Order: sequence, then C-alpha cells, then structure tokens
Amino acid sequence: MTGLLELDDIHTAYGTSLVLFGVSLEICRGECVCLLGRNGVGKTTTMRSIMGLTPPYKGRVRWKGEDVTGSHPHRMARRGIGFVPEDRRIFSELSVWENLDVAQRSAKRPGPWTIEAVYALFPKLRELSKRPGGVLSGGEQQMLTIARTLVGNPELLLLDEPSEGLAPVVVESLLAQVKRLKAEGLTILLAEQGLDFSLALADRAYVLQKGSVRFSGPAGELRENVELRDNLLAL
Ligand SMILES: Nc1ncnc2c1ncn2[C@@H]1O[C@H](COP(=O)(O)OP(=O)(O)OP(=O)(O)O)[C@@H](O)[C@H]1O
Ligand SMILES: [Mg+2]
Repeated sequence: MTGLLELDDIHTAYGTSLVLFGVSLEICRGECVCLLGRNGVGKTTTMRSIMGLTPPYKGRVRWKGEDVTGSHPHRMARRGIGFVPEDRRIFSELSVWENLDVAQRSAKRPGPWTIEAVYALFPKLRELSKRPGGVLSGGEQQMLTIARTLVGNPELLLLDEPSEGLAPVVVESLLAQVKRLKAEGLTILLAEQGLDFSLALADRAYVLQKGSVRFSGPAGELRENVELRDNLLAL
C-alpha cells in the first residue's frame, strides 16, 4: 500500500482556543480509516485541517508526499480530496439533479463518478431527481451530500458523521452504500461517534482524546476488545 495522506504532528486552533495537540496519522490508498472519539475531541477539526478550512499552525499535511499544509480548500478538492461535512449544506432551491450538476461542473475532475453512476449507487436520488433539495429527508440529504462530493471524483473521501441524526433503517442502507464505495476501491476517512457504523467499515482506527491520538491500530482490535473500547471512548 502506498501512503496517500499523511498528517505529521498537526496542531490546530480556533483563534486562541487550541484544539489539536500533535495529531499524526496516515491513510494509504484503498484503506478505510476511522477517526473515533467523544463529542468535541477534534474529529471535525482534523478534517478541516486536512482541507485547509482551518489550517494547522504547526505540523505538516502531506498529500502523495507533497507538503500541502495550509493549501486553499478549493485546491485540496482539485487535488482529489472530497469533504462531506457534518452539516450537509445542499442548495435547497435547486433540484437534486441541479445540485449534482453544479458540483460536477465546479469540481472539474472527470472520472467514473458521473451523475448516472451516483444515481446507480443511490437509486432514491434518481427518483427524486427533479425535487428541490430543501424538501428531502435527512437521509436523502445525506445521500445527496455524498453524491455531490462523488461527482468530483475524489481519490480520498472525508466523511464527517454520516450517520448522525438518521433513523436506524436509513443508517443501515447508508452503511451498505459506503461499503460499496469501499469495495470499489475508494479511500475513506470516516469520523463517527457511531461505533457500530465505523467498525463495520474500517480497516484501521484512530481514537482521539482531547485533541491527541490515544490509540491507533486495526479496527478489529476495537471490535473484539470491549474493555479497550470502553476505556478509550470513556469520557
Ligand atoms: N469554529 C470554532 N470556533 C471555536 N471553537 C471551535 C470551533 N469549532 C469547534 N470548536 C471547538 O473545538 C473542539 C473540537 O471540536 P470538533 O468539532 O473538532 O470536535 P468533534 O470531535 O468533531 O466533535 P463532534 O463529535 O461533536 O462532532 C471543541 O471543543 C469545539 O468546541
Ligand atoms: Mg464533529
């Protein structure tokens, strides 16, 4: 496996509020890596640091070996990193198809993920093609948010809390869809509080506590060792 993304000792703050204290992690091509940890430990901030939305004030972000620390978010997207944020900001007045079309045009990264291909992955979106984004349910909006990122043909997908706020049956189908993405070889970094969701998908896991990595290892270790899991994820 070759290293795709590497974080080396990143420190990130919002103003004077320090949030990440030396996070290092690596994601290899084809892997699904999950980032676990309780509320407020810095999962989203780690993704924002990667995307250049909140650049680290210390440490390095490397993409395919190149130092890209502090790059503009658009440049990170152009390089092939697709960010699916927690807050699912879609255009509520535009139809599902228009949301996808805008995303595809602005990404300017042709590849296998056409609108047809995302409709094949999410058949529900095809049915809703002409409906305005604003009338979709939470689960449908989440599918659209992921689909919109996919049409930019990312090499790495950052998924921030995809299952948050969704009904269990919706989470089940989302899990199956993300499994398909993984099976198709997409590299994924997944931030989740839902342990079942992330451990069902991930090859490796990093657990954050208060802005630092407290555990890194095979996801299987966390799946099998309840004590370790409770210990790491306790408040
Ligand atoms: N824009 C911001 N300005 C100031 N502080 C922030 C901002 N965003 C997040 N924080 C703080 O940074 C810390 C880490 O937040 P972050 O959102 O990265 O955590 P998280 O692990 O993603 O949490 P959650 O599970 O709730 O999504 C928290 O203490 C949070 O209050
Ligand atoms: Mg978060």
